Parts: sequence; structure tokens; C-alpha cells
Amino acid sequence: MPPLTEGQRVPEVTFRVRRDGDWVDLTSHDLFDGRTVVLFALPGAFTPTCSVKHLPRFNQLAPAIRVHGVDEVLCLSVNDAFVMDAWREAQGVSEVRFIPDGNGDFTRGMGMLIDKRANGFGERSRRYAMLVRDGVIDKLFAEDPRPDGTETYCVSDADTMLAHLASLSHKGSTTD
Ligand code: BEZ
Repeated sequence: MPPLTEGQRVPEVTFRVRRDGDWVDLTSHDLFDGRTVVLFALPGAFTPTCSVKHLPRFNQLAPAIRVHGVDEVLCLSVNDAFVMDAWREAQGVSEVRFIPDGNGDFTRGMGMLIDKRANGFGERSRRYAMLVRDGVIDKLFAEDPRPDGTETYCVSDADTMLAHLASLSHKGSTTD
């Protein structure tokens, strides 16, 4: 399945998250309906580029991203809730909400599943970031997978998303 594109609705799925020692259902409706959300997705918790660059920079810039009318910044990975919670704690992240797509349902629906068997990872998410308004993809920055299964880290970063949001705000202010 090819990746979803701008103008399409994000997949409707149910995530299983941990809250106060119990399992809780969290749906796409809960996360996206009536809200403006930035979601970035990456291949794996605790992996080098994700831990050193992708996640920390989004955590750093999340307050600036919210200034542009974004309700929440989400980090999604094809990992289970225990792993995602442990990664958030290990990284000391407070500005980003972690979404465990352990079954890969959201990622599959996005057309973003990628074969990472070469790393012993099975199927994971491509690295991308998107701006979602009321459940519809408004802007998508997706990295290109290389033939060897690795990916670039050029367009899905927090600075690129913030610059995009700033350009929209600027356009808005100049047309008023
Ligand atoms: C990384 O983020 O550096 C990474 C992701 C998946 C596999 C190997 C490394």
C-alpha cells in the first residue's frame, strides 16, 4: 500500500496504552478529532538517531510548535506501551506524548510500514512527521528509505516542522 498523502484521513485504529497499571484504549478519534496535532514517527524506541536527534529536538521545540496552534505533539513507534513508557522516562521527555503502535495498525494504514528485518526489527515505521488537522493530513514530511533499508534524516525533523508552521502563520498574518 502506498503512503497516504496530504488531504487524506489518518487511519482509524485503537492503541493500547498503560495508565495507572492498567490497559486503556486510545483511539484515533481521541487523538485527532477536532484537534490540530503534529505526529512524528520513527523506526524504534532506544535507537540512536531517534534517541539522540529526532525525539529530543521535538521535545525541545514542542512549546514553540504549540504557539502555532498545535494542540499536541505525538511520537509514534511500532513498539509496545511498556517500551514506549520506558523510553519516555529514560529520555526525560515531558513535552511529547508517546503513542505505542505495537501491532503496527496505524503505521500499516498510513502505508508507512517498512521491512527492518535486516536489523532484527521485523516491520517498523518509516521516519516521517505530519501536521494533522481534525484527522486530515495537512502536511507530510517523509524520509526516503535507502535501498539498504536505512533512512535519511532530512525532512522529518522538528526544525523543518516548526519552519513550516511559521511560514503558515506568516502567510496568515500577511493576508489579514
Ligand atoms: C536509528 O535510529 O539510528 C536506527 C533506527 C533503526 C535501526 C537502526 C538504527
